Amino acid sequence: MIKIKIESIKKFEGKVSVFLFFSKEKIADLPENKYSFLKEGEMRLISYKEKDFLLLNIGEKKKWNQRKLILSTRKLVRFLKGNRIDSAVFSLDNIVLENENRTIKQIVENILIADYEFNSHKEEPKEKWPKIKELILAFSSLPKLANKALQEGIITGNAVNLARDLSNAPGGEITPKKLASLAKKETNPVKFKVIGKKKLKEMKMGGILGVSQGSDEEPQLIVMEYYGNKNTKKVDVVFVGKGITFDSGGLNIKTNDSMLGMHMDMSGGAAVIAVMKALSLMKVSINVVGIVPAVENLVSAKSLKPGDILKSYSGKTIEVGNTDAEGRIILADALWYGAEKFNPKIIIDVATLTGSAVVALGYRATAIFTNKEGDPINLFYKIGEESGDYVWPLPCWDEYREEIKGNFGDILNVGSLKGAGGAIIGAVFLKSFIKNDLPWIHLDIAPTMTSIEGQGMAKGATGTGVRYLLEFVQKFKEVEKIL
Ligand code: BES
Ligand code: MN
Ligand code: ZN
Repeated sequence: MIKIKIESIKKFEGKVSVFLFFSKEKIADLPENKYSFLKEGEMRLISYKEKDFLLLNIGEKKKWNQRKLILSTRKLVRFLKGNRIDSAVFSLDNIVLENENRTIKQIVENILIADYEFNSHKEEPKEKWPKIKELILAFSSLPKLANKALQEGIITGNAVNLARDLSNAPGGEITPKKLASLAKKETNPVKFKVIGKKKLKEMKMGGILGVSQGSDEEPQLIVMEYYGNKNTKKVDVVFVGKGITFDSGGLNIKTNDSMLGMHMDMSGGAAVIAVMKALSLMKVSINVVGIVPAVENLVSAKSLKPGDILKSYSGKTIEVGNTDAEGRIILADALWYGAEKFNPKIIIDVATLTGSAVVALGYRATAIFTNKEGDPINLFYKIGEESGDYVWPLPCWDEYREEIKGNFGDILNVGSLKGAGGAIIGAVFLKSFIKNDLPWIHLDIAPTMTSIEGQGMAKGATGTGVRYLLEFVQKFKEVEKIL
């Protein structure tokens, strides 16, 4: 792993000097003709007086913001890595945003995010994988909490990458049981429990059992408890992550391309596991429970059938209009359990729930839904902006419930208006399983599940949701005021 240091000196012999400079800004160490030709977004490695400089033009100073900082950081790191430059010094005085510590934290976590590669299943080339050893972040004067920001950035970046490792692992490798054992291993100091098939039957979790019945792999309900508040055991937040370890669609089977990538259908669960680990490392002072229903959605003679009616843990029956809308069925049980067992102040689910969310938002924003109508969405949106895990709201008004009325069961798992507003229908379905006015947020992370060109990230899973949930916990004092 990269070693990241913060220093107040800037001269380091033999290391590449990295400068992010604004259009028209002068770089003290270099003659102007060495960089003035670079346009916004252009990057170049140059030599001057036997020293190497990596230069990136970051545009107009007054348009500089955190979104650009994140992308610029990643771009530089990927350049260094691609060119096998194993250490560098970033001179950062000029680009510090309003919040200095946040700037440091963002740079650090995005260095780690950009450095990540999923190559554990590939043979190492003769010349070895490129590896960055050390990056030094140089500021002439260090903000007070710089070290805390550095540590938080490292924990956050590592958590994002842990979620990516879990998501990227093939479906044949990570079964529900394997996910449960990895969760246990990774979240070591957290109180940990797995509810297996036998107990799920006793508890009458008909949703989780129903989706799992076409698979030879037993379903697992993973429960991780973290108590950071030394004064009380009252749970502040419950996180629930969709853990479909492979989604074939079930008997409503997916076709060719749409099935590829469905080993990542446990990305919500991966995010929750990674967050539980990060919370204990950061020693955040609130109480959080993470719940991951882990299930395979497969095809066999025992599979759930369209038209089947399942008795969910809540007591309500679910009419299965489509076996491919499986995430909401397992989440119905997990959400009900989370609320009933832990009685939190707010419950949040994270799920690769719908292809419709991708249609609505593209690949650059997670869809956010909440039953707290009015102003709270502004704070929930702001948490996305500050974390770098961007979210955009869609409605889930009660009127939509009309479209998920069951014919022969209480609630239908698909909308009656043929795919219209599919992401909203998914959200409204989940909302029906939230107990009496318990504040709830649903993050449909299907849009942001995989990276796209230009984001400065390796192909595959992005670890979406991790940064959002961690920021949420860190802002919990603010959140509490509006609940
Ligand atoms: N896991 C999928 C959603 C998905 C699609 C996630 C693409 C990531 C990328 C989910 O279980 C699903 O199949 N949803 C269906 C619901 C439909 C049958 C109502 C969908 O969105 O098509
Ligand atoms: Mn599905
Ligand atoms: Zn799914």
